[in-house]
Amino acid sequence: MLYIGIDLGTSAVKLLLMDAGGEIKKIVAKEYPISFPKPGWSEQNPIDWYSQSIVGLKELLTDVDRSQVAGISFGGQMHGLVILDENDEVIRPAILWNDSRTAAECDFLNEEIGRDKISAYSANIAFAGFTAPKILWLKNNEPDNFSRIRKIMLPKDYLAYRLTGVFSTDVSDASGMLLLDVKNRTWSQEMCDICAISTDMLPKIYESYEVTGTVTAAVASELGLSQSVKVAAGAGDNAAAAVGTGTVGDGMCNISLGTSGTIFISAASFGVDQNNALHAFAHADGHYHLMGVVLSAAAANGWWIEEIIGTTDYYSEEKGISALGDNRVYFLPYLMGERSPHNDPNARGVFIGMSMDTSRTDMNQAALEGVIFALRDSLEVAKSLGLVIERTKVCGGGAKSKIWRQIIANIMNIKVDVLEVEEGPALGGAMLAAVACGEYPDVVAAAKQIVRVKATVEPDPAIVAKYEQRYQQFRSIYPALKPVFASMNNT
Ligand code: XUL
Repeated sequence: MLYIGIDLGTSAVKLLLMDAGGEIKKIVAKEYPISFPKPGWSEQNPIDWYSQSIVGLKELLTDVDRSQVAGISFGGQMHGLVILDENDEVIRPAILWNDSRTAAECDFLNEEIGRDKISAYSANIAFAGFTAPKILWLKNNEPDNFSRIRKIMLPKDYLAYRLTGVFSTDVSDASGMLLLDVKNRTWSQEMCDICAISTDMLPKIYESYEVTGTVTAAVASELGLSQSVKVAAGAGDNAAAAVGTGTVGDGMCNISLGTSGTIFISAASFGVDQNNALHAFAHADGHYHLMGVVLSAAAANGWWIEEIIGTTDYYSEEKGISALGDNRVYFLPYLMGERSPHNDPNARGVFIGMSMDTSRTDMNQAALEGVIFALRDSLEVAKSLGLVIERTKVCGGGAKSKIWRQIIANIMNIKVDVLEVEEGPALGGAMLAAVACGEYPDVVAAAKQIVRVKATVEPDPAIVAKYEQRYQQFRSIYPALKPVFASMNNT
């Protein structure tokens, strides 16, 4: 049988066709626009997600025996607010995960209601990108739109709703709404009351590998599929990527270098760090995970290389980098504000430490290093909880860079396992569909069979020692600049 994984990303939707043994048969990607209507705002039109997914699915299924397609599932950009009215029409463009307009609402939740209460209700505190602060922003700033809300959903769940007619979500993505009681995997009545919404407006919650329904008759006929094709709930893109890289079970780590950068640690049991610096979310394997997020990772490097240097030749820009651990230039990659661990929507990008002998290569290197130093901030929080992380998988566009993988190994002093097939959330989505259809007994078994490591990058003790000093320098920069960012009034 065949399974389709749909990764609803921020720049494009990626569709992947996988057979029962996990072999990838075909991949198609379709882009859609993103708009930044004001500084720090980030929006997309959900209709574009659906129409481009349909275009992509038609292309994916061309010359394929469609009677073999058994299941579809998803990985999706997390946290985005999609709202529908009484006629199931989209009320306004979706407000995305990297939108930082909700600073006042986060202050209300974290300071006035109080971190302790928010954390007790949801296992997390408010971050600007999360969904609940967006709902409050709408209530405060667009009361007419707020009053028309009948359904609240996440990006991939909008797609699933259009494909199946079933209003559903999964535990991993729902965790990032700040409306879920993560430990018990149910909606938090307290959080709904605070946001002035009712649980009727929220989808039914499923485990990521559970079947929610089948494609509608209309979708089946448009795509030439059987109406019995099953759709599974799927996962937030990070949890789906973790499935696709075999980061399931207890104590496994995955680093994703996509538009955002994340460090994802799977956990068999529920746990929260004292300061809520890391997100404590449900995982797509039926258990839990911790996660730290840098809002601009490959996106920050892309901004530097394409917008500022003015090239798309990443290889040439990176090939001169050789002196790992010796760079005197530092880069804070906070172009869209900072999520973990500082939680500061006012933060912005910074290069610091240049002198007259600083080269273009030093700047290129700093851009790559800055993202990994910022992710190490989250690794340090995980270590402070007693977690021992000796190795990580890597995925996302940035993981294709050899030098970036070496920088991860040496800044973090961990082994980096490079996968034979690296298709993160799209593969994870297809694997969840296969589990839902009974092809594998559970997510861990599917990962064991499908995911294979092809090489490991080992840290070099001499470089690790140099980077240790550089990291101590890096971590002193943000606190020094914090008041400056605050005075810039960026949100
Ligand atoms: C995770 C997050 C991002 C998005 C990217 O909390 O905000 O990684 O999921 O799509």
